[in-house]
Formats: sequence, C-alpha cells, structure tokens
Amino acid sequence: MASKKANKIHGIITKAVTEDIIKDKKLFLVGVGPGSSRYLTDLAKDVIRKSKYLIGYKYTLSIIRDLIIPHFHQVYEVTMKDQEETYNQVFEKMEENEFCTIPFTGDVNFSESEVVDRLLEIFGNDNVELMPGISSIQVAAAKAKIPLDKTLVISFHVTEDIEDKKRELIKAIQDKKSVILVPRPWNNNAEKNFMQSEIALFLKKVGVDTSSLTAWVFEFLTTAEEKVFKGRLNELEGRDFSPMSVMVVDQVTRKTYLEFE
Ligand SMILES: C[S@@+](CC[C@H](N)C(=O)[O-])C[C@H]1O[C@@H](n2cnc3c(N)ncnc32)[C@H](O)[C@@H]1O
Repeated sequence: MASKKANKIHGIITKAVTEDIIKDKKLFLVGVGPGSSRYLTDLAKDVIRKSKYLIGYKYTLSIIRDLIIPHFHQVYEVTMKDQEETYNQVFEKMEENEFCTIPFTGDVNFSESEVVDRLLEIFGNDNVELMPGISSIQVAAAKAKIPLDKTLVISFHVTEDIEDKKRELIKAIQDKKSVILVPRPWNNNAEKNFMQSEIALFLKKVGVDTSSLTAWVFEFLTTAEEKVFKGRLNELEGRDFSPMSVMVVDQVTRKTYLEFE
C-alpha cells in the first residue's frame, strides 16, 4: 500500500524527502458531470487525455467515451463487486510517472466517499488528486431554483446504516428547510430500499403533512431521457422512479436584498 510521507512544519505541509518514497503513480479522481459530456470541465478532459489508465463504472465511462483514444488508453470497466481487484491490479501495474483517472458521475465529493476513501488507502493520500465536477444535486437545485445554502443536501445512496440520516431529514423538513437528496435503490432487499415512495410514506408516518409540501423528482438529468415530476409529496406514494433520480422537497421562501436594507 502506498503512502508518501509529508513533513508538517508550522502548519505547512511540505513534500517529503525520505528514503522510502513510493515512486509517483498519480491517480486523478474526477467528477465528470451527471451524464451529458457538455457538463465535463476542460480540466477533467485534460487529465483524462493524459491518463494511460481509465477505470470506471459503465455509465460513467460512457460520459467520457468520446475522449478515449484506442491505442493509448487502457480502459477497465468495473462493477461494485469486482472494483477492488481492478484498483489493486492497476496500482501494481502502473509505473513511475504514469497517470490513472477514475471518473465519477457528477461531483467526486458528493456521495462517492465509500469508494474514494478506499482509493486513498490503496494509492496513498499524497498520490491522489480530486477534481470537482458538476453534481446531479447542483443541476436539480438549478432546475428547481433552490439555493443550496438554504438546503439540506443528503445522500441515502450509501451502504452504511441510514437511520441518522433519516432523523436529519425529518429535522430539516420540520425546520422548514428545503431538501435535495439522492434516494437509495436496493435491488434485492426491499427493506433497505429508500426510494421516493418510501420517503413520502416515512415522512407521513412521522407526522409530516405531506399533502402540503411541494416535491420534485428529476430522472436522468442532462441526458436525452431526462424527466421531471412536480407535485405534492404525498403523490409520490406508490410511484416508481428510476434509481437515476434526484428528489427535492421545496420549502423555499424567497428573500431579496431589498428586505435587508
Ligand atoms: C453514488 S451517487 C453519486 C452522485 C454523484 N457523485 C453526483 O454528484 O451526482 C449516485 C446517484 O446520484 C444520482 N444521479 C447521478 N446522476 C444522475 C442523473 N443524471 N440524473 C439523476 N440522478 C442522478 C442518482 O440518484 C444516482 O443513483
């Protein structure tokens, strides 16, 4: 496992000069936007072009497909099940001064930490650079015209326990905050599923008047299949939406600078 030591002098981190430095194998973890290649930043394109190794899930690789150069890039398509093996295999295979990019849907710093944290372990914190992308959450916020700074942004798309997150959700709704969330699809275990219908029923059960709240669901954002639902929260009960969706509970009260003069 790689780790390049860094010296911390008076709060400033300097590059290590030690005998046991692992040779540079640079890994870029790059947010590539929610689907359309038009949401790819120029910086993301640059690192993808210079990386010999590209590792990603099928959907994410499809976002960058036009950047793949057949006789240069070595592309590894992974699934949740086999990713661990591939990450280790590529790490072993990489030589000094070679680059690898792992594209992440949307922004790499939103709802990706279970994988990112593992990659930091395998490649070593100092060999990894994270590059932001435009999140599905940001696109949903823009479409619903919801300011992110007045919103609880929350991901249920995690394998860990979500009971604390559910409590956060209730509190935000009671505090009259808007909520933007990614739901939790769980194919083979209905109990772990926390999709739009379950979320609406859950909130009703804890006493929220779901018939008075505005909800949005955005499916397949920025792609040709993009779909938007807008209605009351209770209308989500019993409705199926794609796992590729973002849900918004809209409690925005608009306040302009004129009110604060
Ligand atoms: C593991 S999370 C990753 C989120 C991603 N890092 C981001 O910033 O958008 C995956 C979930 O994000 C949401 N998502 C990602 N892309 C989407 C899109 N194009 N349209 C709607 N939802 C999307 C879906 O809920 C999907 O199941």
